[in-house]
Order: sequence, then C-alpha cells, then structure tokens
Amino acid sequence: MCGIVGYIGDKNAAPILLEGLSKLEYRGYDSAGIAVAENGKVQLHKAVGKLENLIKKTDGGKKMTETIGIGHTRWATHGKPTENNAHPHAANRFTLVHNGIIENEAALRKHYLEGVKFNSDTDTEVIVHLLEKFVKEDKDVKVAIAHIIGELEGSFALAIIDKEDMNTIYAVKNKSPLLVGKGDGFNMIGSDAMAMIANTDTFYEIHDKEFAVITRDSIEIFTSYAKKVERDSFHAEIDVSDTEKGTYPHFMLKEIEEQPLVIRRIMQQYSDEDGNLVVDKDIIKDIKASDRIYIIACGTSYHAGLVGQTYIEQLAKIPTMSYIASEFVHNMPLLSKKPFFIFISQSGETADSRAVLVKVKEMGHKCLTITNVKGSTLSREADHTMILHAGPEIAVASTKAYTAQMAVLAVLANALSDNPMNLKYELAKTATVMESLCNNRELFHELSKEFFATTRNCFYIGRSTDYYICLEAALKIKEISYIQAEGFAAGELKHGTIALIEKDTPVVAFITREAVNLNTRSNIKEVRSRGAKVLTISLKRISAHSDQIVIGDVDEMFAPLVSALPMQYLAYYAALIRGCDIDKPRNLAKSVTVE
Ligand code: F6R
Repeated sequence: MCGIVGYIGDKNAAPILLEGLSKLEYRGYDSAGIAVAENGKVQLHKAVGKLENLIKKTDGGKKMTETIGIGHTRWATHGKPTENNAHPHAANRFTLVHNGIIENEAALRKHYLEGVKFNSDTDTEVIVHLLEKFVKEDKDVKVAIAHIIGELEGSFALAIIDKEDMNTIYAVKNKSPLLVGKGDGFNMIGSDAMAMIANTDTFYEIHDKEFAVITRDSIEIFTSYAKKVERDSFHAEIDVSDTEKGTYPHFMLKEIEEQPLVIRRIMQQYSDEDGNLVVDKDIIKDIKASDRIYIIACGTSYHAGLVGQTYIEQLAKIPTMSYIASEFVHNMPLLSKKPFFIFISQSGETADSRAVLVKVKEMGHKCLTITNVKGSTLSREADHTMILHAGPEIAVASTKAYTAQMAVLAVLANALSDNPMNLKYELAKTATVMESLCNNRELFHELSKEFFATTRNCFYIGRSTDYYICLEAALKIKEISYIQAEGFAAGELKHGTIALIEKDTPVVAFITREAVNLNTRSNIKEVRSRGAKVLTISLKRISAHSDQIVIGDVDEMFAPLVSALPMQYLAYYAALIRGCDIDKPRNLAKSVTVE
C-alpha cells in the first residue's frame, strides 16, 4: 500500500524519484505523483493508473533540473483514485505525501480547520493544512511537526518539503514504514530499502512517533518532543539484481523458481558450525516455558501457519492453533495460562497482525515474529525474530515467502522437539523435488489451458495438510486470475458445497497423505459423477495411473512445500492465459498497512 520516496542531493531528483517509485510498485497503488522543488517553486506532477502514465507525462523527469523532491504511489482509501486525490498535496507553504490513515481527520477538520478550502477527498490534506496552521502558531517547523505528531491518530508516514527552505526534507513516521537512506552528497527516504538500494545500502530507522530532518549532508532524528536521538545506521542485505526480473517475463515466475534456492539458503542460514539446524536458545527457552502457541497471521501467511501448527504439534508436542489476525484482535479466545505468540508476516508490516501484537504485548505475553524483512515493524516490536531469507518478494502474490514460512516453521518445530528428525536431509530432498517440478513447467501450462482458460469458478479439495494447500491454492488463483475459487476439506464437500458442481466444473484434488488417500479418491468419484472435470496432484508413492501431476517422493510432512509449486504454476498460467496483470493484480497491495 502507498509508497514514499524522497531525494535531496546534487542530481536531478525526478528520475531518481520515478525509479524509486518503480521499486515500490509491488506494494500496490492506483495513482502516482511527484513534487520537485527549486528556487522557492514547487512543481506537482500526478497521473492516475500505472506509474508508466506519470513517467510518460513527465518524460521520465529527464528535462527537469530540481535537486529536491518527494514522490508517492497511492492506494486509495479516502476518495477515488483521481489526479486530485493523488499525492503530493500542497497548501500555501508545505507539500507532503502520506502513507497510512488518519483516524481522527473529521475531528481535526472540525476543531482546527473550520473554513479551510480542501481540494481533495483525502485525509492527507488535513495534515498539510494543519501543518500550515501550526507553523504559523508555533513559529518553528520542528515544533509544529512535533505538535502534528501529538494531534494525529492513526498510521502515518510522511515526507514533507517546505517552499521557504529548499534544503530540507522532513520525514515523519507512526505505524507505517519509512526509512532514511544515507548517501555521499545526497540523502533519501523511502517506504523500504528497495526504493533506495540502487543509490545506497546504508539506512537509518525512524521509530514510531519520531521525525527526521534531512539535508544533503545531514540526517537528524527527533522524538515527538523534538528531542534529538542518536541512532546507528544499518546495511541492508539486498542484492540489486533481486529487485529485477532478469530474463523472466514476470516476478511471480522468477519467485516460484527461486524456491529450491530459498530452501537451501534457509538450511545454510540456520546451520551451526557443525552443520546442525539450530534456533536461538532464547526463543526455545521462551516457547518451552509456555503451555500453548498461538499463531497469528493473514492470507497466505495464515495458510503457512496452519501447516506450521501441525509441525509444532507433531514434532514439539506443544498445543498450537492458528488464527486470522483481523478476527483474533476483536474476538480473542480464552487464552491459556502461559501463551506464546508467533506472528508470521512476509512484509512484517501488516496492520492486522500488528494490532494483535500490540494487544498481547500490553497483556505481557512473549512473542516471536517470522518475517522476510529484518527491521520491519513486527520484527522490531516482538521479543524475538526469525528471518525467512527468501530475498525480496516483488510479485503481489506470495510464493517463495510462503514455502519459506513453512520451512522456517519446520526448523523451529524440530529445534523444539525432544526427538528431532534429520531435517537437513528432508529439506535437501524437498529442494531437489521442487527443482524437478520447475523443470516441468510446460505441463502446468498445458493443464492450465485445459482447466482454467475460460472457467468462471473452480474448487480445490484435499484432506489434512492437503486441505491447507487447497486454501492457499484457491487464494492464489483468485488473486491473480480473478477466477472464483474455493479451497475445501474434501470430506466437507458433500455437506453442502457439492451442490455447486456442474458439468465441467474444474476440481483440483491434492493427495499427498497416505492415511487419507482413499477417502479423497472417493470424494473425487463423487464430484466426477456430477460432471466435474478433475485434475489430480499426488505424491508418487500413492499416485494412481490417471493422476495428471505426480510429485517426486518426500516425507509426507513436507508435501505442502512441494505441492505448493504445481498450484502456484497453475495459478500463474491461468492468469497468463486470461491476460491478467500477474505481478500487480487489481485492487491488491503487497504490504497491507491499514486494518
Ligand atoms: C497473498 C498474500 C497475502 C499476504 C497477506 C499478509 O498472495 O501475499 O495474502 O499473505 O496480506 O501479508 P504479510 O505476510 O506481509 O503479513
């Protein structure tokens, strides 16, 4: 959701801002804009739709000369995606961009801004008018910004420029991500490191309710009381090539095929000197002191949590339950005496998960965040972090982070076990089987043509952990190909949903668990006799002659990691055949920073 970039230095700012915004496209947006400034004049450029439109409109910023600017990709929350509503928003003196939602905007308008004329439907415009007013009263920009932080309720990352001081960018942060990038003769800000990595790999965090004052050669961070704080910089471990598609037509395909590599990287990153897979002793100690684990996540991460829950129960013998964050926060079950919370979040920024984290921390409970982004909000605010090491995931539809989440949960579960398995051997086998699936992608392309080219709906069925894969398979195909899909526990179908099966309805069945093989095959017969067109995905040792996709054998426990690949490929090719925007599906955002 919404992306922010800012630059101050010696170079033409516009192309740097546009390049930075292109690296934030993956977050999801529906309009974009930049503001560049020089000699007391601020130029605004905005366009609705793809960033491409803004790039065309500004000719890539090539002819501009301004060396300070801020840019924004907007995912509409207040008001439609129009040019008027696109950021930056300006008042007389200040111009700003905003990521987040101001919850008390109506109250602020009423209390402070009676009679002020607004040009947009956004909550953001309230901030710029408020700043204008406070600067007049407080006589100092820093004091006015501190004042603003005290007044605003909700989430806000802000980049601000001031017509009367063209040598400074102000950055403000609360609950929405924002980093400062340190350069040589320039400085930047961005919603994440990827927006700046082509220019610098050195960053400063800004914590919630802090702000930064940034010039070409200096970065100063202040608390909401305008008191200066000292902060160490850190280096981001992002390879610039990880943010490019290379020879792949889409990031999603690239990321699907990176999965064997990611599994091997996880094995390497979690190995000790003797080559054993290990987890930080403090994490193990805190979990062992608990009597129940609560896994909290959203979407794909929740689906990984369901598989992780079985790993923890089977290997570590600790009762574990997975919950959807947005439900848990308002409908909390009766907690056990000594709960431990695991938050799973690729981005580490998901507002729904964070709302739970804040609540359980207030209650005094310990927690661990499993995330792909070191230094992300959920990572910083938890007691412990385990990193996914999946590398940047740019396609909106999660693929490699999902399998990485399951693999890291397996590492954790095994480390908690009194009777650990040879996980290294099992994960190595899993990576090899994943590779053989990647070598067979044409099969998935052909099957997608046969099953998904024109259908309006489809069903995924399976039992046990296959059911969890069905939930993710349905989400994957829905989000990128817009086919209405349902993931179903195969045994539940006859209790109602089978009424939807008609001639040629596609039903994809997953069969990777021996104990339920025959049961699922009976359910296949039931849907087939009602006209369904069935595609079966099975593990080799329990496969039948007619199964269209047969996956090389792995321990059943790790079948979800390998069966993830065919379902991801099927969704990818379904979207390709139907001409959808695979990496940036409509209405979706990669990093969901509002509740
Ligand atoms: C779907 C997808 C989403 C995310 C969800 C949570 O492909 O990626 O369902 O899993 O929005 O995001 P994170 O994992 O960043 O908390």
